[in-house]
Order: sequence, then C-alpha cells, then structure tokens
Amino acid sequence: MERTVTSKPLTGDVFYPPPEIESQANVPEYETLYRRSLEDPQVFWAERAAELEWFQPWEEVLDDTEAPFFRWFVGGKTNIAYNCLERHVKTWRRNKLALIWEGEPGDTRSFSYHALDREVAKFANVLKSMGVKKGDIVSIYLPRIPEQVIAMLACARIGAAHSVVYGGFSVEALAERIEDAQSRVLVTADGGWLRGKIVELKQIADEAMARQPTIESCIVVRRTGQEIYMEAGRDYWWDDLMGLPIASPVCPSEPMDAEDLLFILYTSGTTGRPKGVVHTHGGYMVYTYTTLKYVFDLKEEDRYWCAADPGWITGHSYIVYAPLLNGATSFMYEGAPNYPYPNRWWRMIEKYGISILYTAPTAIRGLMRFGDAWPNRHDLSSLRLLGTVGEPINPEAWKWYYSVIGKERCPIMDTWWQTETGGFMITPLPITPLKPGSATRPFFGVEVDVVDDQGKPVPAGDEGYLVIKRPWPAMLRTIYRDPERYKNQYWSKFGHMYQTGDSARKDEDGYIWVIGRMDDVIKVSGYRLGTAEIESALVSHPAVAEAAAIGLPHELKGNAIHAYAVLRAGVEPSDRLAEELRNHVGHEIGPIAKPENITFVDGLPKTRSGKIMRRLLKARALGQPEGDISTLEE
Ligand code: WT7
Repeated sequence: MERTVTSKPLTGDVFYPPPEIESQANVPEYETLYRRSLEDPQVFWAERAAELEWFQPWEEVLDDTEAPFFRWFVGGKTNIAYNCLERHVKTWRRNKLALIWEGEPGDTRSFSYHALDREVAKFANVLKSMGVKKGDIVSIYLPRIPEQVIAMLACARIGAAHSVVYGGFSVEALAERIEDAQSRVLVTADGGWLRGKIVELKQIADEAMARQPTIESCIVVRRTGQEIYMEAGRDYWWDDLMGLPIASPVCPSEPMDAEDLLFILYTSGTTGRPKGVVHTHGGYMVYTYTTLKYVFDLKEEDRYWCAADPGWITGHSYIVYAPLLNGATSFMYEGAPNYPYPNRWWRMIEKYGISILYTAPTAIRGLMRFGDAWPNRHDLSSLRLLGTVGEPINPEAWKWYYSVIGKERCPIMDTWWQTETGGFMITPLPITPLKPGSATRPFFGVEVDVVDDQGKPVPAGDEGYLVIKRPWPAMLRTIYRDPERYKNQYWSKFGHMYQTGDSARKDEDGYIWVIGRMDDVIKVSGYRLGTAEIESALVSHPAVAEAAAIGLPHELKGNAIHAYAVLRAGVEPSDRLAEELRNHVGHEIGPIAKPENITFVDGLPKTRSGKIMRRLLKARALGQPEGDISTLEE
C-alpha cells in the first residue's frame, strides 16, 4: 500500500515505518497535531506542562513583550530535579531502575529512583554545607560516571546552577569556564577511564585552578584509585563528605521560578571566547520531557541509551533530564566504543537489553569501519528505535545503521538541534517516513524555514539560512553576563527570526536537509569547536605569531581541523615544532581540538580590515574556486 505524508507520494529514497512501530507510537499522527500546535502553541505547551508537577501554576505561558528575551510559564514555580526524582519516588516507580551504568573496566552500578533520589539529596546537603546557595554556579568536570548525574541534579535541587565542562576538555578550556561562571566549588575526579588509560582530570583541574583562583572547595570523586595531589583545606574526597552526618538523605527540592537559572553550558561561537548558553527550569523541563517522550516514543519497559557525554547538551537534555522526567530506565557507559574490542557497544546492547540507542554519525562511521562481523555476533533484537545527532549523517552510514544494527526494523530518529535550542527541533517521529540524511520535519510548536540574505524563503531545493520563526520553551534565554552578544549572535541578521548558523535545503515534501555550519564553528566528530579558540591556543605558544584554523572534510570525523601558523621571527619551522604545537593545543583545549596538521606559512590572507579569510584558505586547500576576493588586502 502506498503511504503518504501529504496527499501526494514522497519523492526520493523513502523508508516507511514498520507497522508494529507505527501502531503503538505515542503520537499516532503528525500533520493535524503539527498544524494545531502552530495555531495555538500556548495551549499545546500548557497541556504538556500540566503533565508535570508545579508548586504554583503559571499565569502566562509565553511573555514576548521583551523579545528576543522571551519568558515561558511566567509566574510558575517548579523544580526540574523534583520532577526528575521526588515526583517518581511517590509512585510505584520508586523501585524502578533509573540508571544502569557500566564502567570501561567492566564494573557496574545501578540506581533505582529511590536510590538515586537519596544520593542526590545527600550530595545536595554536602553542597549546602560548603556554602553553595541558590543562584551560585557549581562547576562540574567529571568522567561519564553516575556522580556526574548526581552532582547536576543536586545543584538543581537546591537551586544552584551547574556549569558542566566536558571531561575531554583541558586546562585553558576549563579555566576560562570557571572564570566566566565565577564558580567557588568544583566537582571533579581522580581520573576517568578511556581506552584502558587514565584521563588525568585532577591534574588538569589543579592547573586550571592555579590559573583561575576563584575555586575555594574542590570535591574529588575516587574513580581510578590512583595517587593524586590533594590540597589541604581545598580538596575533599566525595566519599568522605558523603559519609559525614551533614550528608543527610533528606533535602526537599527548592521551589524555583520557571525562569530561574538551571544551568550554563559553554559552547563555541563565531568569534572570541566560548559563550555561556543559559537555560532555565520551566521551559527546558517541559520541552525536553515532551520531545523525548514523542520522538523516542518512551514506554515504561524501555531501556534507553543515549551514548553521548553529559558534558554536552545532548547529555544534559537526553541522558540526565528528559529520561528522568519521563521516569525511564537509562543506561550509561563510561568509556570508548571500541574498547577492548569493537564489539563493546553491541555486547552491552545484548547484555542489558537496550531498546533505544541514540548516538552520533561519527560513532556510527567509526564502528562501521570494523565490519559487520562484530555486531552480527550479538543478539541486537531488543532494539526498537535508533537515533543520531550532531552533524548531517551520510546516507552510507545511515543505511549501515539501519540494516546492520537495526535489521531494517528500527526507524532512525535523525534529530537536528543545538546547545541553544535545548532539545530536538527538526526530527522525525517513529511514524515519519524517513529519507536518509534528512532530519525530516519540525517538532510540534516549532516553525522553521530556509531563507536568503533578506530573510525571504528560498525555493524548494535551494540552499539558504536555516532559521526558526517563533520562540519555543527550551530556547536559550541569553548568553551568561552578555545579553548584547545574545542579541547580536542570534537575532541581528533577520530581526524576529532566530538565526541557527546552519545552512540547509528544504525539498518539495517540506523535508529539511541540513548542510552544515555557515560560520566559524567546526564540527569535529560532532563536537563543536570555534576557530577562534584553536587560534588563540596556538598563539599562546611562544613560537607562534599568528594562526588560522579551518575545517576540512574527513571520512570519520566529518570535519578535521587544519591550522596555518606564522612563526615569530627567528623560529625555524620543523616537524617537531608542528608536533609540539599540536600537543600544545591538546593541552590547552583538549585532545579533540588538536589540529590534524599544521602548515607553516609566511602570512595569512586577510581582508583590508584585518580579518583572516578562512573561506579562502579552505577553497585553496580543497582546490576550489576562490570566489569573491575583492576584499583581500594587497
Ligand atoms: C550544531 C549544533 C544538539 C546536540 C549536539 C550538537 C549540527 C546537530 C544535527 C543533525 C545535521 C546537525 C548543526 C548544529 N547538528 N544535529 N541531526 N543533522 N546537523 O549540539 O554542539 O550545539 O551543535 O550541530 O550544525 O548547528 P551543538
């Protein structure tokens, strides 16, 4: 039978949902519900919000009088951590598993909702005893271990905000985030396991704390057991604190205003230092809860695995908050996908009976490289739905994921969103006919378009700027301590439309095909990095006078960083120096930011106003036409 989305058949390579998925989907239909969600978004979101608990109801769903500073659920009081834990502990879910965890060495831990609630309450009391108050920002720099989830929820519970720094970041990246947030408390670990080796988190944290002395107390989780430096009066072991009488398991959630700060997450932008994206309790809660429920079609019996890192927005929204808001059972894994062998993931899917797997194209490509024999050795029949995020997925990887992992039974949710959007924006539902490489259609209440320089919609099939045409509950509220930058970055080009920074095409069926970043953001293995950060790390080395970084296509990583360096007078270029500079970037920002290679040059192409023409460097590296070079200085 021919199935259609609109009245006409879809064009291109289309994969229809299997009947057993379609017949039991949480959302049975898209078109009508989508239309209704746009006709009256406030009613749509109020209905969703009512599924969660509020200490005091909101007076107004959306206040747009100070656009682009939007406020959602105005006057409402709630607490996202309350909705994640205490709300379930009152019900039969008390004894349901909230979190199952496996460490890279193979050790395991699991927490029921009751057990997780206790740990969070205890750690919340520990934070209080360290003087952390409502409105403070706690920095968290941990490996992928349960304490990461516990620490984040403990902050939210007492009304403190968290600033999680990805455990793969290094000294300068951590130091500047601590500085911007003015954190007094840092939570870290004696190390984490990755590919059988220890990541020296505490050592990096010590160096960062030396650069930014705002930290008064550092709480250290014992993960590896290795000997580390502990500074008396500043550093405390997590276990010791959790054993003290102050760590009582009773700590009711603080009632928070819907618009109170929940967290800051730093992300790379077009220029300068990373920006602190601000998310709040109310709208973020309603939106992440709803998107996960509808898109990954959560059922009580699911075993859901989002294989991202909690240090990125994917982990904040879809490892920590949304699954717990939905009362789901999540799985979390500490280490590398191919350690000790390339079947690690497939073995865990079989062992834990994972039903939903959400990962990134780069991981899929990386595992695909080892061949079909590794997954084929395992029983993956528990899988029901698959997901991908972070960058456009190439149809080849999509098809491998679909056939070899999903056995052509599991629809793939290609979710397009950003740190700034808080949750899925363009995404299929399990009932959506899929086209490999397209994130398909906007989520409910979300209106997107592809426009030209003037903000006019471009014809179907043409490339243009991807914009979002109305506010949504989980949108960022501002850039921390920099409202001007918020306005400039997201709302200056098209006024009332949110500028995503991505380019895209819309096909004749209304499907969106995201092409990639149009700004100086590089997506390396799905990780977001700014050319400015890499360049400033390079010039912080005494040998370098000037530097430029660009992203070039890479088979596994999507994009790889290529850097150009102008050396200071008297410094001789050499392979050894190039290696030293790569390591320097790794030490300052993190291993993911290490340039693939560094080319020594005498000068960089610049505009007459002195801006580096990265576009030109990229065109030259790819042997493409140089385009308009009229602004190039002599
Ligand atoms: C950028 C945002 C949101 C979770 C992780 C990334 C790219 C993200 C997709 C997708 C094509 C995608 C965009 C976006 N991106 N998902 N499904 N298809 N591109 O968050 O680090 O803030 O990066 O990632 O370029 O702007 P982020």
